[in-house]
Amino acid sequence: MFVKARSLSTQLIVSLGVLLSIFGTVQGISSYHLALVGVNALLDGRLSNVAGRIRDVFEAAIPHQSAGSGNADDIVVLVWTAQHKSPARTTDSAVVLNRDSPTGFSDQIVNREAWRVYTLVTYNEVIQVAQRVAVRERMAEASAARALMPIFVLIPAVWIAVYFCVRRAFGVLGRLGRRVQAIDSSNLEALPEAGLPVELEPFVSSINRMIERLNESMRLERDFISDAAHELRTPLTALKLQADNLQGDIAPQNRERFQALRHGIERTSTLVSQLLQLARADAQISTTAPSALEVTEVVSSVVSELLPIATQRRIDIGGEELMSARVCATESDLRAVVKNLVGNALRYTPEGGAVDLHVHAAEGVARIEVTDTGPGIPEELLPRVFDRFFRVSQSVEGSGLGLAIVRAIVVRYGGSVTLANRKDGRSGLRAVVTLPLLRPRAEAGIQVC
Ligand SMILES: Nc1ncnc2c1ncn2[C@@H]1O[C@H](COP(=O)(O)OP(=O)(O)OP(=O)(O)O)[C@@H](O)[C@H]1O
Ligand SMILES: [Mg+2]
Repeated sequence: MFVKARSLSTQLIVSLGVLLSIFGTVQGISSYHLALVGVNALLDGRLSNVAGRIRDVFEAAIPHQSAGSGNADDIVVLVWTAQHKSPARTTDSAVVLNRDSPTGFSDQIVNREAWRVYTLVTYNEVIQVAQRVAVRERMAEASAARALMPIFVLIPAVWIAVYFCVRRAFGVLGRLGRRVQAIDSSNLEALPEAGLPVELEPFVSSINRMIERLNESMRLERDFISDAAHELRTPLTALKLQADNLQGDIAPQNRERFQALRHGIERTSTLVSQLLQLARADAQISTTAPSALEVTEVVSSVVSELLPIATQRRIDIGGEELMSARVCATESDLRAVVKNLVGNALRYTPEGGAVDLHVHAAEGVARIEVTDTGPGIPEELLPRVFDRFFRVSQSVEGSGLGLAIVRAIVVRYGGSVTLANRKDGRSGLRAVVTLPLLRPRAEAGIQVC
């Protein structure tokens, strides 16, 4: 209403606070004016009262002449009789009011000061009771200001009360927001519906229905992937076996074509495995549970596995700096990440090149670096190399799925993967993977996964 804040609670607090402050101020100002009027009436009443009582009782007590009351707030009383031109009796001889003032209340200027006068005419005398207007105003203002006091306490109190009430009412929204934020494919639990404000019920129940549908479609996807894995692998394995069995019976003139056939089967089977691996990583399916793994051990094991390829291509592969770094992952996932990156480095680095591996652990992350002396990747194509089936050049065989698999896996573990051309003046690519380090459980020093 008054503010364009993005937070509903801030909007409410400010709007309510401003509204209540305006009402409070208007109420305060009107009380002030009412109090002014009230006090003036009260003072007038006092003047007429004094005049009445003087007539009845105290007339004789008033001195014949007085040098002045000395008290500025005092009421001045004059009594005129028919015989005298000056007041017969007065409480302050310096103040001589107009004897012919109209009966009742009047305002007079005496000695350049405004006076409020009450004139009472009896059968043989005129009694005048007067008070300085400035004194009356001072008294009325002081009394009205006291009426304002509660407002100064009430307005801040209203702000505090509004703040706490709105925060309390919105607390449930905040808690709900945090639960909704925590929803992801690994945490698809329905939100609690009990005890919710009615306004939130439709939202929460539609979120819950969405979670239910998501759970169902993820279950179907998982089932489809495992069925597909089985259905595709079985015939391909059978084909491979049959080709192996046939090998001896192939006539020499057909050997080359037979090898092409076998290579085709190999490629198809690799492609099927890669597609399933990617689908599994995307659908967050693991056949085994994650465990605490030493990154360096997995890197060394992958290097040993790929050593024959490196030797064949005369590529110097080595772990430059392999620090201990423990992460929580399945071994097959971590192996797939390292193998794809080291495999790429060996595949795209020309013969006689070098591939360096680094493993660091710092600031809560394990960092795996694979640096090669290959051609690198043109800068403008770097953002696309993680796309499925994207390949920079077709000169070397491959399906363009390796990096997509790497990214899907590391993202799933809350890590990252980046590729950059070398900045040290040499040609080559540096692939960097980060994964969250395993945190020791504080109380026991036990590493939990
Ligand atoms: N170390 C590297 N040096 C140069 N180019 C690279 C390197 N790594 C990847 N690339 C380029 O990025 C493309 C995508 O790599 P990716 O690993 O996804 O697929 P691939 O290696 O072609 O096939 P595969 O699915 O068998 O891994 C590659 O085709 C290649 O052109
Ligand atoms: Mg690859």
